[in-house]
Amino acid sequence: MEGIITPLNSAQDGAACAGIMIASEPWITFRTTYDEALSVINDPDNETFIFKLSDGTVAGFVTITLKGSLPGYIKRIAVSGKHRSVGMGKELMMFAEQRILPRTKNVFLCVSDFNPGAIDYYLNLGYEKIGEIKDYLVNGKREFIMRKTAGPLKEIL
Ligand SMILES: CC(C)(COP(=O)(O)OP(=O)(O)OC[C@H]1O[C@@H](n2cnc3c(N)ncnc32)[C@H](O)[C@@H]1OP(=O)(O)O)[C@@H](O)C(=O)NCCC(=O)NCCS
Repeated sequence: MEGIITPLNSAQDGAACAGIMIASEPWITFRTTYDEALSVINDPDNETFIFKLSDGTVAGFVTITLKGSLPGYIKRIAVSGKHRSVGMGKELMMFAEQRILPRTKNVFLCVSDFNPGAIDYYLNLGYEKIGEIKDYLVNGKREFIMRKTAGPLKEIL
């Protein structure tokens, strides 16, 4: 299906992104509320880009940040259930990387231990598991930190 990736610039489309999140794992397990989902999308420290179909439907989105102690962090990515497996997720990931890598040397993300499909997905896109955090979001679940790098932050030789 035809569409474009474009910066989020309307409250209506932001609401659609929050709706995609709360209808999907892993956020169902985390019992993420609509307001919690929306607050990440609307946080001025973050940038959200949407996959918008030619009929105006928001089929997916990616939220990144270039700020904080791990700049180049993909905070959220989701494609709505009925639009998965046709490559939109990969296009959103590539768009995020093209936005991040000219500005900093790493792309970071976190993925839950109970989301093996997404872990394999990121491994296939060239991400490496670099750590894990136990009981970070909720008790009994681990978050894996993953990284794709273009090299060290500073060349000293
Ligand atoms: C991860 C996600 C954004 C990928 O989007 P997509 O548009 O379906 O991805 P693509 O079309 O580029 O790639 C599809 C492939 O991704 C893989 N994949 C990605 N996530 C997967 C998951 N959670 N479970 C199973 N397979 C998954 C499959 O191998 C699939 O291949 P298939 O079409 O042969 O089944 C989408 O699955 C999604 O929104 N998942 C729910 C939210 C989520 O888990 N986000 C990541 C949180 S860290």
